[in-house]
Order: sequence, then structure tokens, then C-alpha cells
Amino acid sequence: MMGKLSIEELAVFCKRKGFVYPNSEIYGGMAGFFDYGHLGVELKNSIKQEWWKSHVHQRSDVVGIDGSIITNPKVWQASGHVANFADIMAECGKCGNSVRADHIVEDKAKVSTTGLYAPDLQKLIYKHKVKCLRCGSDEMKVTLPFNLMFKTTVGPSQKKEAEAYLRPETAQLIFADFRLVQENARMKLPFGIAQIGKAFRNEIAPRDFLFRCREFEQMELEYFVHPKKVGECPYASEFYGYELNILTSEMQQKQQPHRKMKVKEMLDRKLILPWHVYWLSFEHRWFISLGAKADNIRIRQHVQEEKSHYAADTWDLEFNFPFGWKELEGVANRSDYDLQQHIKASGKDLSYFDEESKSKIVPHVVAEPSLGVDRAFLVFLFDAYEYDSKRENIVLHLHPKLAPIKVAVFPLLSNKDELVAAAKKIYGELRQNFSCFYDESGAIGRRYYRMDEAGTPYCITVDFDSLKNHDVTIRERDTTKQARVKISDLPHIVWQLLSGMIGFDKL
Ligand code: GLY
Repeated sequence: MMGKLSIEELAVFCKRKGFVYPNSEIYGGMAGFFDYGHLGVELKNSIKQEWWKSHVHQRSDVVGIDGSIITNPKVWQASGHVANFADIMAECGKCGNSVRADHIVEDKAKVSTTGLYAPDLQKLIYKHKVKCLRCGSDEMKVTLPFNLMFKTTVGPSQKKEAEAYLRPETAQLIFADFRLVQENARMKLPFGIAQIGKAFRNEIAPRDFLFRCREFEQMELEYFVHPKKVGECPYASEFYGYELNILTSEMQQKQQPHRKMKVKEMLDRKLILPWHVYWLSFEHRWFISLGAKADNIRIRQHVQEEKSHYAADTWDLEFNFPFGWKELEGVANRSDYDLQQHIKASGKDLSYFDEESKSKIVPHVVAEPSLGVDRAFLVFLFDAYEYDSKRENIVLHLHPKLAPIKVAVFPLLSNKDELVAAAKKIYGELRQNFSCFYDESGAIGRRYYRMDEAGTPYCITVDFDSLKNHDVTIRERDTTKQARVKISDLPHIVWQLLSGMIGFDKL
């Protein structure tokens, strides 16, 4: 294994293999936008499918929606995004270059700018002699906040009344549709509404490949609870013995590092509320079950000043990226902020009728797991990537459920018609149920090499014995071990291997 892979190296690998391309590269590209290639789209779709399966299909208390990207702009006025969803900028007095004030301070002074307001950032710019990145002048001045929502116009008019926004989060669609979903799906508290979809933020400084893009995709879940039951989570005990790396806001104030702790101890010491730790653990387990490494993930509480305008308390699942521990998934307690805002602004009744007390209540969102698909994509790639010095090639140890190609089929030699015909027949059958790849070009070792790099967990080779014995070789990516199996058993065996029902050593 080589040293830690940098984000730039990962971007190069992703482009070379067909995972991710810079958007519209033939025209010089477009900062903050990316296109997923033939392998990337498969990995991304698998991540979304696995998320939907575990968060919606496998739970009786969650249903999904798919809201529209452009919505009535009153939604964003009510939610507070028009007034508050902004970054503080700094502009060069000499050349006019405009950048994010917190980023240039952090990059130069190597200090955290979390929660700092404009005057504090200006002081740090002076103190650390932060210069313009373009012309080198020392006239960087903090300016007005910059709202991150992309504007567009709807219909032929270009007037102000026609203005709308591309959604900066999927969450608001869930709040705006809350009453319809709850009534029609007949959901009883506590329950959740989930959504996967694109979101857009006009980031001043998109950076770190897929980490901070202007167009990205979210997987979000709003979990609603009776306001008098926000402290009671009937499912928390499922995770009592579960261990997480934890960093509370107090530990950050004392400049302590994160440490391992069991969920039970966190609750006994009242470091976190039961619903919050339940959802953080649920999310953590989801990542681990799909191949992410526990040592690279921690939960970190937001310090007071860094909380979003809607949040009562927020914890992030953070990942140890090559550029530091950064947010992978935010889990905010949004209380009843959003529903109350929409009740006030729309004048509509968005309450819930509580059978027990025979009264109307406004539920609280005790936890909002909000995950960027693109960030999850990075995590699974980082934790799967290995340069294998024995094989002298890259092996992508992706979980079989996420692997873009589940199984590859090769004839041992491409110039033997019988081998090619037999391999194509197997390929034709397997591809009815699995994402498959057929390859007859180059030496067999090269074909294995290409599949190791693509993360394909199993390769099947048809050789001369196959023609006599009706069996094939199946090779496991992670160990390079091989086993012989009957061709007639292949669909069942491949399915058992991919679903984890049997291990390769059982073949
Ligand atoms: N819905 C929370 C977020 O987009 O960050």
C-alpha cells in the first residue's frame, strides 16, 4: 500500500477509468460541475439504491418523495434561505478578485474560522497579511454576504416576479408536502420522509474535486417526532453497544482529539440526545456495512456559532479526507422551525392530529440525516482504493453491492471460436440479472488487471476444460483465488456471492 491517496490523484484515476469527468471539458470545463462516466454512474446509482433500500424499503416508518428542483420562491423566503443562506466574501481593492473570506483566512493563517462574522474575518486578514490570490495585493476587504442560491426565471418574462431558485437542499420539498404525505401515506409519529435528488449551490470556491461542487445530489431524511417525545427514542437501545469516534463541542473548546466511546456511555453522560445518536449510528452502520472504514469516520458536534439558521443542534458524520476531517453527512435537529415557518408564511394548517391527546400538534424534526451522494462516492472510493505492490496494479476493493460491474466473463483465448461462443453464452445469461462485462482483448492477466481497477469482484474464465466438463474458473478480486464451478450453477452462485450468502472459500 502506498501513502495516502490525494484528492488530485483520485480525480486522475476517476477520469482515466471512466468514473468521473470534468464537465464540458472540450470547452475548457466549468468549475464545480462534473459528469459521471460509465463506471461512475453505476457506482452512484448503487449508492442511491442501497440508501433507498435501507432508509425507505427496509423501514416501516419512512416513505419517500421526489420533489421538483424549481419550486415557488416563497418556499425559500419562508425557510430562511433567501435571508440567511450566504457566505462572507472578501474582494481585492486593486484587481476586484472576489473570494470566500473564510477560505483565504484558513488557507493562509491555518486557523479555524468556524462561526466568525465579517469583522473578525477582516481582523484576521490584516493580522495574517492575507494577500489577493490573483494579484498579490494586500487590499483584501470583507464585503457583503453572497447568497448561494442559483437564480433562474420561469416562463418568458425576465421580470422580478418571474424569478425562482434552483433548490439548495431537497429538505424544503419534504416540509412543503408534509401534510399531503402524512395524510395520504397515513403515517403515524414518529416517522420519516426521505428524498434523493439534485441540489445546487453557487459555491464561491468549489474545491477538492467532488467534495464541494455547485451541482450535487443529496439523500435526505426528515424524521418527525411528537414535540413531547423528543427525548424518547424507542430504537436507541439497538445501538447501546455500538462504538463511535466522538468529538463534542466541549472537547473542541478544550482542544481535545476525538475518542472512541460506546453509545450507551454517550447517553449516560448526556452528551447527545437519544434520537440524534440513533440516527448518527444508523448512518455510520450504513457506511461500514458497505465497506467504509470505521477509523476514518467520527461524529462531531457543531460548536454554537457554526450551526445553520434552522438548527437547534447539529452533529456531523465526518470523514478523514486527505485534506482533513470534513463533513460527510450533517445530522441536524431542526426542531419545528421549518413547519412553523411554512405555517406562518402560507397560512395553511400543516399540523398533525394526535390521536392520543385528541389535539393538533406540530411535529419536531429531531434528526435530519443529510448526505451528499457525491461525498459518499468519494468515501467509498478512498476506502476501496489500494495499490497492490505484489500485483503491481490498483485494486478497488468496492463492496460487491456497490461495484459498477458485478461480474466479468472472458474466453481464455479470443481466437478460438468455441471458447468465444461459450463465454458469450454465459455473458448473455448472466447479464439478465447482473451488471456484466465481456472482454476478449489482450492477455488474460491484463483483463484481470482492468477488472481489479474497476472494482469488479468476480471474473469468470472459459477455458478448454470448460468445453469438456461444462465448468469455468471463477476468480475473486480481493484474494485472486480461483475455483471451478459448473456453468449451470453460475447464476445461483454469483447471486449468492454478491449477496454475501456464501463466502468464496465455500465454493
Ligand atoms: N438539508 C440540509 C442541508 O442541505 O445541508
